[in-house]
Amino acid sequence: MPLKPLTLRTAERMRAWSRACRARGRSVGFVPTMGGLHAGHASLVERARAENHRVAASIFVNPIQFGPKEDFRRYPRDLRGDRRLLAAAGCHALFVPEARHVFPEDFETRVAVPFLSAPLCGRFRPGHFEGVATVVAKLLHIVEPDRVYVGSKDFQQARVIERMVRDLDLPVEVVVCPTVREPDGLAMSSRNRYLTDAERARAPRLHAALQSGAAKVRAGVRDAGKVRAAVLRALRGLGRVQYVEVLDARSLAERRELAGATLLAAAVFVGKARLIDNVVVRA
Ligand code: PAJ
Repeated sequence: MPLKPLTLRTAERMRAWSRACRARGRSVGFVPTMGGLHAGHASLVERARAENHRVAASIFVNPIQFGPKEDFRRYPRDLRGDRRLLAAAGCHALFVPEARHVFPEDFETRVAVPFLSAPLCGRFRPGHFEGVATVVAKLLHIVEPDRVYVGSKDFQQARVIERMVRDLDLPVEVVVCPTVREPDGLAMSSRNRYLTDAERARAPRLHAALQSGAAKVRAGVRDAGKVRAAVLRALRGLGRVQYVEVLDARSLAERRELAGATLLAAAVFVGKARLIDNVVVRA
C-alpha cells in the first residue's frame, strides 16, 4: 500500500517542505491540478517521479480562471479519491491551499500572456489564461520546484505557461507531457464525468474528427481552410461546436498555407460538458 502524500495547507509549510528537500540535494518535480484526478494527472505525477527525487502536487480549484457562467461551483471535488490516486502514482507532498489565503480580498496583481492567450479557448474564455498564469506563477513561487509538469491536452495553457516562465526568468523547467486517452480515443478530463452514457458513447468523435483533419495534412493538403472544413464536417451531430482552429503550433498564429508543426484544436459542447482536444501534425 503506497503511503498517502503529506498534506500541506499553507504556503509556508509547502515552501518549507520543498526547501528541506532541496537542502538535502533532492530535486523536486511539481504537478499543479484542480483535482477530480484521473489517469492523465497520474501520468504527470509518474513522469515527475521518474525525473526527480521528490514530487509535489497541488489541488486548487482556481476561482480566477473560471468565467461567471462556467462550472466553478460544480467542478468535481473529491479529496479522498484524489489522495488515493496521488499515493498510487508516487506523490510525496500535496499542497491544498485555501482560496482566502491564495486570493485575499485585496489581491489585485495579474500575470498576462496576451498574444498566446488570444486565439482558441482564449477567444471564448476572457481572462481565463490570465487567471491560469497568475495562479501558476504563485504556485511556482511557493513550491519552488526544479521542474513543473503540464499536459498537452491543454495545449494553449502549456504554451502560455512556457512563455511566462521564459519571459519572467522563473527558475524552473517546464515539461510538457502527452495526452492520456481512454481506449476509444477520448482525452481524459475531469469534465468527462458530466457526460451521460449516450454522450460518452459519441464523445470519441471529437478526437476522430481532429485525426481526420491531421490525415489530410499528412496526405499533403496545405490549405488551412480545407483542413478546418474537414474537421467541421466530421464533427457534425456531435454537439455545439465552439471553435475549430488550425494554427502554427509554436506561435499559435494563423497560417493560410500550412508549414511545419501544425496544431488542430477544437472545443465542443457535448451535453453539459465542454470538451477540448487537439492534435499536432507536421505539414
Ligand atoms: P487540471 O485541469 O486539473 O489539469 C492539471 C494538469 O493535468 C494540466 O497540466 C493538464 O494539461 C493535465 N491533464 C489534464 N488532462 C490530461 C490528460 N488527459 N493527459 C495528460 N495530461 C492531462 O489545468 C489545470 O488543472 C489548471 O488550469 C492549472 C494548471 C492547475 C491552474 O489552475
